[in-house]
Amino acid sequence: MANVELLTFNNGIKMAAIGYGTWRAPDEEIKRALNLALEAGYRHIDCAPVYLNEKAIGKILKEWIDGGKVKREDLFITTKLPAFGNRPESVEKNLKKSLADLNLSYVDLYLMHTPFGFPKPIDGQMAFHPNGDVVLDLTTDHVAIWKKLEEFVGAGLIKSIGISNFNQRQVHRILDNATIKPASLQIELHVYFQQTELVEFCKANNIIVTAYSPLGSKGIVEFLLKITSKQRNVPDLLGIPEVKAIATRLGKTPAQILLKWIVKRGVAAIPKSTNAGRLRENLALFDFDLTTEDMKMIKVLDKGIRICTLDFFQGIDKHPEFPF
Ligand code: A2P
Repeated sequence: MANVELLTFNNGIKMAAIGYGTWRAPDEEIKRALNLALEAGYRHIDCAPVYLNEKAIGKILKEWIDGGKVKREDLFITTKLPAFGNRPESVEKNLKKSLADLNLSYVDLYLMHTPFGFPKPIDGQMAFHPNGDVVLDLTTDHVAIWKKLEEFVGAGLIKSIGISNFNQRQVHRILDNATIKPASLQIELHVYFQQTELVEFCKANNIIVTAYSPLGSKGIVEFLLKITSKQRNVPDLLGIPEVKAIATRLGKTPAQILLKWIVKRGVAAIPKSTNAGRLRENLALFDFDLTTEDMKMIKVLDKGIRICTLDFFQGIDKHPEFPF
């Protein structure tokens, strides 16, 4: 079992600081890669129905649990309420669909995936409309949905609840109205988008932040090209000279430095890799340390560059609470 630091939620439940990200991995790829990830020691797996691979993930989880290779209680599985289910009356159906697909009787963490919603499923289940012609549901009521999530914690289908892609004002609204406080906020976070203020706010309110796109999400270029037919450039975080210099000095890779910098802030990260060597490398962060100087050197690299801008949802900037 890999040596991975654990973060403790405000309800006492623990989550590994490094999880395995499953976005943009089609069925056959995720089955192969998840086997590799579980063999490497990942126990925290980040899923979502809009990644369109929960059935494939569920198949592998079942094989591992039924085969006695892992106990359910040693796994930490996150999944999310999709944007097209962002209504109180849609929570049960979506949660139960994810549980059935993942072959689980409960999830460890259930997040509202986005602060915005769509009026209905697009093309049956896709959250992304290929021609960008998206109608937003401007009536999304976060608090009413949150109350539903609380009910399912009570019913034992969810251990912890949280939110994703919410801005500070939106998190605040949940905090002000929650019986069960959010355990975690999942947001884009990396060296060029450090989210200092939001991380501080979450720390002050006992919310564990989880960083998505921690390595700069190179794979998003292909995804965006497919859904928008537009070429977008994303910064090369692994090539940042300061990061490379620290990596060379410590005998580590730039990816390990980027991830270590995140977990050293008390933030979890969910890097995605389908390569055996790289996914092992991303978990091997707990036998070295960054100095205070290293942390300072990385802190000043922030450029406020959001990679996953969500602008592939045309018209999202018209949402009254944008930017998220
Ligand atoms: P691959 O799956 O071929 O390893 P993010 O988690 O920020 O979305 O980044 C995921 C991208 O980064 C994927 O394209 C993945 O490619 C790549 N990646 C993941 N881990 C590493 C690593 N240790 N070194 C270099 N690239 C990596």
